[in-house]
Amino acid sequence: MKKDSKKIAILTSGGDATCMNKVISTFVKYSIDKGYEPYFIYEGYEGLYKNKIKKASLKDVRMIYDRAGTIIKSSRFPEFKDENIRKVAISNLKKNNIDTVFVCGGNGSYIGLLRLTEEGINGIGIPGTIDNDIGSSDYTVGFDSSLNNIVESIKQIRTTMESHNFITVIEIMGRQCPDLTVMAGVATEADYIITKDNILDEKQFTEVVKKLRKSEKESIVILVTELLYGVDGRLSLKEMCNYASSKIGEKIRLNVLSYSQRAGTPTALDLYNATILTAGAIDHFDAGNKNFVSALKNGKLQFIDVDKAIKMKTPSRMEIVNKFVNKNL
Ligand code: F6P
Repeated sequence: MKKDSKKIAILTSGGDATCMNKVISTFVKYSIDKGYEPYFIYEGYEGLYKNKIKKASLKDVRMIYDRAGTIIKSSRFPEFKDENIRKVAISNLKKNNIDTVFVCGGNGSYIGLLRLTEEGINGIGIPGTIDNDIGSSDYTVGFDSSLNNIVESIKQIRTTMESHNFITVIEIMGRQCPDLTVMAGVATEADYIITKDNILDEKQFTEVVKKLRKSEKESIVILVTELLYGVDGRLSLKEMCNYASSKIGEKIRLNVLSYSQRAGTPTALDLYNATILTAGAIDHFDAGNKNFVSALKNGKLQFIDVDKAIKMKTPSRMEIVNKFVNKNL
């Protein structure tokens, strides 16, 4: 394929993740090395629609690599589903003579990417989200940093729980993906894990807590993936804790880690992988390919067509959960 233009742009989309700045830094530095003119699209797909596009320079990315967040900002923009909105976005790219867009984001962001390719734009995806919810890649940029944050928070909470023999439920991000919860739970020897694959109602939850209390006289830590409760007719997590507390006669403390999970110091693994995934994508594009996502599968850098990538599913983690954490319950 002949390269249409030397101008290539990047946007970050969805929830921010530590190391998105490493992706941005690599994108600018490596693409300039390769003879491209990098551009920033600010505020994700919304910024594309609003024509927030600006030429990037080496100065813009100086020493940003280990800053959490994204210097070009991000957004959730469900309006991008609308064809008329997309038409405006495409005409903005054309006005700027840009026909290639790199998107760093999660699941939803890849759907926007597919839509761009359907409109004739060269679309390239880099997996970037704390959730690790992209089936095409074993690993997403930001996941490891977030996991380490979560592990630190759990260890800190456990200290107090242990001093007082308290029971706590800790809510962990990840949308429908169990990976953060399961890996943090195994790492910190949690007492029980609830994910989308083993949702309990309030009565089952109470039974589990009773059994845990019978065998464990000191602290009890239960990890629950967010967004499972307070939806589909289920009690909220707070209500479920209160329900079980009233049945067992002991307070269950709820800790919601929330946005602290998305920031913090990037891990070396995340910094390294962000670089490999981004530079690899530029190389693959430079070799004449388009409409693909970069991925790490079984430790190897791979490139997968966007339309195939979005259909790939993430694995279940229940075997691990049952083997190491929810055993005997
Ligand atoms: O996608 C990353 C993430 O942190 C999810 O884990 C979480 O559900 C979501 O973003 C929260 O973001 P928002 O506040 O935009 O809903």
